[in-house]
Amino acid sequence: MVLKERAQQGNLSPANMFTCRTITAFSKAVNIIEVVVKIFAMRITILYVLLIFAKEDNQSDGFWWACDKAGYRCNIAQTPESALECFLDKHQEIIVIDHRNSRYFDAEDVCRSIRATEPSEHTVILAVVPRTYITNLPFYFMHSWFVFQQFMENNSITACYNELIQIEHGEVRSQFKLRACNAVFTALEHCQEAIEITSEDHVIQSHHDENYSGDNSQSESHSFKCKNRRKDSIDVKSITSQSSDAPSLQTRQYSSMARIHSMTIEAPITKVINIINAAQENSPITVAEALDRVLEILRTTELYSPQLGTKDEDPHTSDLVGGLMTDGLRRLSGNEYMFSKNTNLSHSHLSVPNTINDVPPCIAQLLDNEESWDFNIFELEAVTNKRPLVYLGLKVFGRFGVPEFLNCSEATLRAWLQMIEANYHSSNAYHNSTHAADVLHATAFFLGKERVKGSLDHLDEVAALIAATIHDVDHPGRTNSFLCNAGSELAVLYNDTAVLESHHTALAFQLTVKDSKCNIFKNIDRNHYRTLRQAIIDMVLATEMTKHFEHVNKFVNSINKPMSEGSDCEYAANMKNFPDNQTLIKRMMIKCADVANPCRPLELCIEWAGRISEEYFAQTDEEKRQGLPVVMPVFDRNTCSIPKSQISFIDYFITDMFDAWNAFAHLPVLMQHLANNYKHWKMLDELKCKSLRLPSENNN
Ligand SMILES: *[C@@H]1O[C@H](CO)[C@@H](O)[C@H](O)[C@H]1NC(C)=O
Ligand SMILES: *[C@@H]1O[C@H](CO)[C@@H](O)[C@H](O)[C@H]1NC(C)=O
Ligand SMILES: *[C@@H]1O[C@H](CO)[C@@H](O)[C@H](O)[C@H]1NC(C)=O
Ligand SMILES: *[C@@H]1O[C@H](CO)[C@@H](O)[C@H](O)[C@H]1NC(C)=O
Ligand SMILES: *[C@@H]1O[C@H](CO)[C@@H](O)[C@H](O)[C@H]1NC(C)=O
Ligand SMILES: *[C@@H]1O[C@H](CO)[C@@H](O)[C@H](O)[C@H]1NC(C)=O
Ligand SMILES: *[C@@H]1O[C@H](CO)[C@@H](O)[C@H](O)[C@H]1NC(C)=O
Repeated sequence: MVLKERAQQGNLSPANMFTCRTITAFSKAVNIIEVVVKIFAMRITILYVLLIFAKEDNQSDGFWWACDKAGYRCNIAQTPESALECFLDKHQEIIVIDHRNSRYFDAEDVCRSIRATEPSEHTVILAVVPRTYITNLPFYFMHSWFVFQQFMENNSITACYNELIQIEHGEVRSQFKLRACNAVFTALEHCQEAIEITSEDHVIQSHHDENYSGDNSQSESHSFKCKNRRKDSIDVKSITSQSSDAPSLQTRQYSSMARIHSMTIEAPITKVINIINAAQENSPITVAEALDRVLEILRTTELYSPQLGTKDEDPHTSDLVGGLMTDGLRRLSGNEYMFSKNTNLSHSHLSVPNTINDVPPCIAQLLDNEESWDFNIFELEAVTNKRPLVYLGLKVFGRFGVPEFLNCSEATLRAWLQMIEANYHSSNAYHNSTHAADVLHATAFFLGKERVKGSLDHLDEVAALIAATIHDVDHPGRTNSFLCNAGSELAVLYNDTAVLESHHTALAFQLTVKDSKCNIFKNIDRNHYRTLRQAIIDMVLATEMTKHFEHVNKFVNSINKPMSEGSDCEYAANMKNFPDNQTLIKRMMIKCADVANPCRPLELCIEWAGRISEEYFAQTDEEKRQGLPVVMPVFDRNTCSIPKSQISFIDYFITDMFDAWNAFAHLPVLMQHLANNYKHWKMLDELKCKSLRLPSENNN
């Protein structure tokens, strides 16, 4: 194949012939590049290797014979001077340099002087390092990577051969392709004439100007063929008519890109894409096509969010998704949503139990049932005069040995619980401290499940209970989308990202450490504190709904799937060796605890549905009042069907998540309630009832 460049033609205005067609030419240019790249890749027949060894030994012999075996041309240089001279003459693709001792020359200095020459841009340098060579210094490694790659000394011919072959098929080939691309870009950039790609017998494969397709017989063409492969970079420049011989800016830019590409530090997704690309090469067409679709999906950023069908999209679902899973349209307005600026640090007005043994008998009696899933949190709310979190917290934290773990007194724990509870807004219909107590209850229940207990450490349990307690503190009774739309101070502070969850966590820690009286962390050492804090933050942030599907899918893929393969007991014990898996379990646990309402006994489920609907109605009311976008229009108190909204919520967020969690933690009671409650909402919906109950039941 020959890439032909046309000489200027008389019947064509030469000026800007290329630029005026840039747009159509671009797609063609891409094709041309692909063709040229293939040509270059095929041209690699002989590779040149330079060995720089002060003294010949088993190691240099190893590489010598490896080159022989691979059919590479090999030179050996013994001094830095002769090495440089030889390299400037032959432009070897691979240099192997002895870096085992510095008696004869400093390998790094030699590499740097070679790197300082222009042809070295396309050369891979391999340094033979002693076995004791320290490579785990990230900065040094990154830095030296540009200079050379490392080869752990091994004089076996096989080892040397494998290394060279790998380099040839990896970096060297990419360097060739890159050089081809540089060449084409340079050519295109400087070219003011039409370009054609023809086969050897001048049949046009692709051309840049339709007007020229027919008459190439008159054309005077320059061959783009690399006659002397040793000097092809010069050949490439020769086709750039009117350009000087100096390397163009373009070439420099692409060369620096080449360096980035050859770095080993890459994101996991890059590795995955590379693996798939490699697999595609040798796959049957059907597999390769399937992998293409996989790659397409992998390149999107929203890997875990199901795409809602645009057709029969249920407005309840899309409102919930829009309201809970997006941060809304960012819109600054004068309508600043205000948080309670003064957090409630003083709690003297509260009636305070002195010790856990001191709680009123009616409360103590109620709390006896605290370990049951069917525990009625609303009764506790009533008998504690809206302080369910303090009482349940004292009981549950005691049961899990939290004061012992933290080495804190019960008085400190009590003061802390009171302070946290006081910072929940009693005026919220849903997100008040009863919700926090409910999530704490569910978390404690999950922690009691055999498999959960077996998988987690004591620190995880403590972190989970604290996270549940604080997870919605100072919640304003509005969603993240609302705060973003309203341009609230917090949304601005947290860049519209996980606004509430960030605030709950940050505020809880601020309040805790501010006052030694309620600082439950004051007696633990720094390392414990850091680990605990990290775990708490991770869990509270996991309650953010934009990441819902990500957390659930990761749990299913890392916990559920491997679980079905191994035996049960070895499995849970095994988990303790995998902190990442423990993290996924903790996230799933708090997520499920946070939205466990549809798995509670029917009466509790109905009460919760009423409260959340009321909170959303209030938000819609305020949005209308303030002229803000209404993020969840179905939650309009005049028109909303609560059963429909519950059904959508269960369908979209709950069913799969609890199936997965149940498969791990074994929760038949919850699943039974869930099925039961779902039936209740379905029944109401079929009867076109929009409220929590049938009218006949309303007096219950
Ligand atoms: C040297 O390389 C050979 C072949 O790859 C390998 O079997 C051998 O274990 C290596 N020796 C050392 C000491 O790493
Ligand atoms: C072909 O060249 C003529 C002038 O010679 C020009 O007017 C016409 O637009 C060109 N056609 C295309 C497709 O470029
Ligand atoms: C527990 O805290 C007290 C201070 O309140 C300290 O004196 C004691 O050493 C701590 N115990 C442990 C085991 O850290
Ligand atoms: C703080 O406590 C006062 C009563 O002392 C109450 O009116 C106010 O709403 C509370 N603030 C919060 C954020 O709960
Ligand atoms: C939570 O809100 C409900 C109204 O939905 C209210 O009856 C209850 O007293 C509140 N609980 C607390 C602890 O503030
Ligand atoms: C918000 O964005 C700004 C600018 O990108 C950044 O400096 C700041 O750290 C971000 N804040 C948070 C909380 O992410
Ligand atoms: C836990 O993590 C390890 C490594 O990250 C993984 O191999 C294993 O399959 C995971 N799941 C279970 C159930 O252990």
